[in-house]
Amino acid sequence: MNIHFASSIFLLICFQFLIIINLFIPKVDTCACHSSGSIIGKAPPPGTCNLEDSSACCVDGQVYDLYDCSPPVKRRTKANLTLQSFDYGGDKGRPAECDQKYYEDGDLVVALSTGWFDRERRCLKFINIRGNGRRVRAKVVDECVSSGGCDDAHDYEPPCGNTIVRASKAVWSALGVPDTQWNRLDIHWSDA
Ligand SMILES: *[C@@H]1O[C@H](CO)[C@@H](O)[C@H](O)[C@H]1NC(C)=O
Repeated sequence: MNIHFASSIFLLICFQFLIIINLFIPKVDTCACHSSGSIIGKAPPPGTCNLEDSSACCVDGQVYDLYDCSPPVKRRTKANLTLQSFDYGGDKGRPAECDQKYYEDGDLVVALSTGWFDRERRCLKFINIRGNGRRVRAKVVDECVSSGGCDDAHDYEPPCGNTIVRASKAVWSALGVPDTQWNRLDIHWSDA
């Protein structure tokens, strides 16, 4: 056999082997959640941004990251708890996304970041929240939008983070957090 012919066959086999190997290597990145872009904040028109609870108004010229995804949900999913009123006249100014209802501060309800809200798939389902050494079960009624913000459709509020559980006062209270600290808490949550 011609030595050149033999070596080209050898190279061809090596090449195909590499292609096959490549097909079976798990793509490490497929589970990661990266920012989908960013927006530059515009100051809201007067009277359009309600500063109640943990909501903030967009700052002119500030860059905000957008997320269409959140980290994968596990048995213990790390998140940050923040405060939200779901009541009529509360910081959102409109009823909850899932059922177009308002909820009182005494109701155990939450909003989840866009990725976890999962196109309404968690609507009216319950989650368990663990934090401050306690556990509480709360109903998902709304989305904390991380895929957009700083416009009329989002009440001129900045985009939500992608690891946020925004909870009513009742949730904070059930976790035994003193009301002077109802701004941010490290929690774990899971589907109930
Ligand atoms: C919670 O917020 C803190 C402070 O902003 C941040 O450092 C931390 O990474 C957040 N935790 C999660 C799970 O996103």
